[in-house]
Amino acid sequence: MTIAHTPSLPSKFPNMGTTIFTVMSALATEHKAVNLGQGFPDFDCDPALTQHVANAMAEGLNQYPPMTGVAPLREAVSAKIAQLYGRHYDPVSEITVTAGATQAILTAILAIVHPGDEVIVLEPCYDSYVPNIELAGGVVVRVPLSPGTFRPDFDKIAAAISPRTRAILINTPHNPSGMVWREDEMRRLEEILAPTNVLVISDEVYEHMVYAPLEHHSVARFDGLAARSFVVSSFGKTYHVTGWKVGTVAAPASLTAEFRKVHQFNVFTVNTPMQHALARYMADPRPYLDLPAFYQRKRDLFRAGLANTRLRLLPGEGTYFQCVDISGLAVPEKDLGEARFCQWLTTEIGVAAIPLSAFYGNGFDQQVVRFCFAKKDETLQLALQRLARL
Ligand SMILES: Cc1ncc(COP(=O)(O)O)c(C=O)c1O
Repeated sequence: MTIAHTPSLPSKFPNMGTTIFTVMSALATEHKAVNLGQGFPDFDCDPALTQHVANAMAEGLNQYPPMTGVAPLREAVSAKIAQLYGRHYDPVSEITVTAGATQAILTAILAIVHPGDEVIVLEPCYDSYVPNIELAGGVVVRVPLSPGTFRPDFDKIAAAISPRTRAILINTPHNPSGMVWREDEMRRLEEILAPTNVLVISDEVYEHMVYAPLEHHSVARFDGLAARSFVVSSFGKTYHVTGWKVGTVAAPASLTAEFRKVHQFNVFTVNTPMQHALARYMADPRPYLDLPAFYQRKRDLFRAGLANTRLRLLPGEGTYFQCVDISGLAVPEKDLGEARFCQWLTTEIGVAAIPLSAFYGNGFDQQVVRFCFAKKDETLQLALQRLARL
């Protein structure tokens, strides 16, 4: 008789634990805390959008769509980019529908990074970038954003570029800091990259959350950047449907061709009725054009409340995140380190937040934590009441 055993497996990520977002959300649920940790709305999407899904399903749009995404959605995205950022991407050869921005970024990295290639990330950065690069056999080159302001430091970026650099990942508006790249910063990046073969993966999932007087500067607006970029966006953020996991990638045809070679054996296709629903919903531009005003009001409400606490507000230029400096708090827990402070804040004060250290490879601690304000006004009011105790 043979004894069944599960073969031992060398882990590809021996040091990886559960993400901080999952940990904090579980802790928030356990302690009935107001969850301003993980970035998702606590309100529903427009019922017109779900009605479009129901209609698409009832119409029998339930089988595999084309590998690249349904034509009406690729066409709607192409038209939107042309309208907003002044560049034409061919819906047939330059736009691909993905299973959210997460898959778009992983697929782009797998498509372009060869073992040993260097990829620059600007820290603090979204948590999937580094493991994605490692999975492709790439070497992660970490360049810090300027301490305190989170603005790109171009001397450091230029110094990090080597003959082995394959790509740089940028993110504007930026999670976690809410910083928004300015036009002159995009031009500076364009200049630095001009003499190189470095590609750009531009994570623009918060493109419709930039607050006046600033505007979003997509890489698509700049000839020299657009020619070397994968522009990543996500419907989850824009239409309050983070659970749908539908995103897009726009890139020049030669880059898209390589992207699709991986995409077709990665997910192959993205669910059909959601794609048709999104295409139909996009016929009206108001939901995304009105989004900055919608979130700006929430940001202002939340910032006004926080201004009455000892938390020091950092700028809130874009995204639905607000960072605060905890160093001026009177409570001794402020010195526990960001991660333990966030646990204490969740269990004792009843508000969950995310430590910025979670976005750095070395766990850099600057006494700053991130709140998500994509919440109903009453949720924000309840959180503010609790934070007023600090
Ligand atoms: C900067 C950034 N990139 C990508 C994603 C992932 O987007 P999606 O849910 O479309 O996969 C997120 C989600 O929080 C994000 O904040």
